[in-house]
Amino acid sequence: MACSSDDRDNFVLSGVTPRTGKACMTIDERTDHRLPPVVDLMPPGARLDGERLVIGGQLASELADSFGTPALIIDEVALRARARRYADGLAARWPNSQVVWASKSLPCTAIYRIMGEEGLGIDVAGGGELVMALAGGVDPSRFVLHGNAKTDSELAMALEAGVGTVVIDNLDDVERLERLSSREQGVLIRVIPDVATATHDAIATGHQNSKFGLPIPEARALVERLRGSDRLRLDGLHVHIGSQILDVAPFARAVEAIAALGEFEVYDLGGGLGARYTYDDHPPAIESYLDTLTDAARRFLPASARLLIEPGRSMIAETGVTLYRVVSVKRGARRTFVAVDGGMGDNLEVSLYGQRFEATMADRVGGGENYTVVGRHCESGDQLIESVALRDPAVGDVLAVAVTGAYCLTMANNYNGALRPPIVLVASEGARLALRRETYEDLLDRDIVAPPPS
Ligand SMILES: Cc1ncc(COP(=O)(O)O)c(C=O)c1O
Repeated sequence: MACSSDDRDNFVLSGVTPRTGKACMTIDERTDHRLPPVVDLMPPGARLDGERLVIGGQLASELADSFGTPALIIDEVALRARARRYADGLAARWPNSQVVWASKSLPCTAIYRIMGEEGLGIDVAGGGELVMALAGGVDPSRFVLHGNAKTDSELAMALEAGVGTVVIDNLDDVERLERLSSREQGVLIRVIPDVATATHDAIATGHQNSKFGLPIPEARALVERLRGSDRLRLDGLHVHIGSQILDVAPFARAVEAIAALGEFEVYDLGGGLGARYTYDDHPPAIESYLDTLTDAARRFLPASARLLIEPGRSMIAETGVTLYRVVSVKRGARRTFVAVDGGMGDNLEVSLYGQRFEATMADRVGGGENYTVVGRHCESGDQLIESVALRDPAVGDVLAVAVTGAYCLTMANNYNGALRPPIVLVASEGARLALRRETYEDLLDRDIVAPPPS
């Protein structure tokens, strides 16, 4: 049986069966059948205190009391363990390599700092992520700058900061970089491998019609063009086929496809490994994914090549939990709605990609009847979970939605004047705020109020 992703980073689940230290367990081995299954979707190390959910050593409902709701809780211990698992796993299989965290998955200065401390490089897409990565104290020579529409000012910022690698998406990038750079700049070409993936259209990027990168013939012409450049040093190629991919085969096909362009020193194979959002998701383990990439590299790429990978979702999704408070429980014609104090303002994954989530009442974990969890925003599509079993939800209770670490806060917004939620880091020494909740003052702060007519 293939490894499943949730080997849970070798955590010990206190009070119950210890997680084994094995690198790869089967699903049955890793699941403790005495616990409600939703606990297994919580960050590794989550446990129950009686019927109450404990994340990172803290009672979830007490975190909600202390930091308010909605709040994104990130288990720092789990996150660091996952970063090390990725870095050690890749280095063991391909020593000349670097894991580059795709920071779009949770752009927050404290998280950049953590990833930098764990020795990872940082994928930044645009000026904002660049600024946060620098504020996180990460060495810019470890940055990989992405974007299909990088502006002059973003490229100038990146060059000024000393970003190690710029990934060229199009010919306009080349023109801009040659005009703006005053010294040699390492670049990769983003290639479209024309590989199909079984994921949502909105997050598939390896197909021929993708807006990201260049098809193979155009990439081949650009290789020639860059070989004549006196400013841009072509180090190699980049490929990224999409996100939430639950099958390893397309990753190998992408490596084979870009090998047709010849031999280079660097290959950045992107991110894309899926996370386990629901009981029915069985993504490949990090180790299986790394085996696939490095086996393909051994078959198709030069042995001396440097390999980069850019995991985002699979790095961080499972380390996060969003806590909401129930505002209303309403019986409808066919279902009962549990309305919470967040929704599509802090989680767009549902309405953009139809992503399915699981949840539990924080103080009554497991069991119960099926409810529809909806948000507070003025859209019928503002539904967090169509049907989930919850035990006796009541106004004021805390609801914990699992696996919200990636891309939820990233796309948080102010719909209906909602305040974007805080990020709370939990670790053995306690809980600390990494990003404060937005305030109403923040909402008004950018207003330019016209003077009244005289
Ligand atoms: C260029 C690039 N690299 C890496 C990633 C990370 O992908 P994922 O979060 O699915 O691992 C993305 C996001 O889609 C991306 O655009």
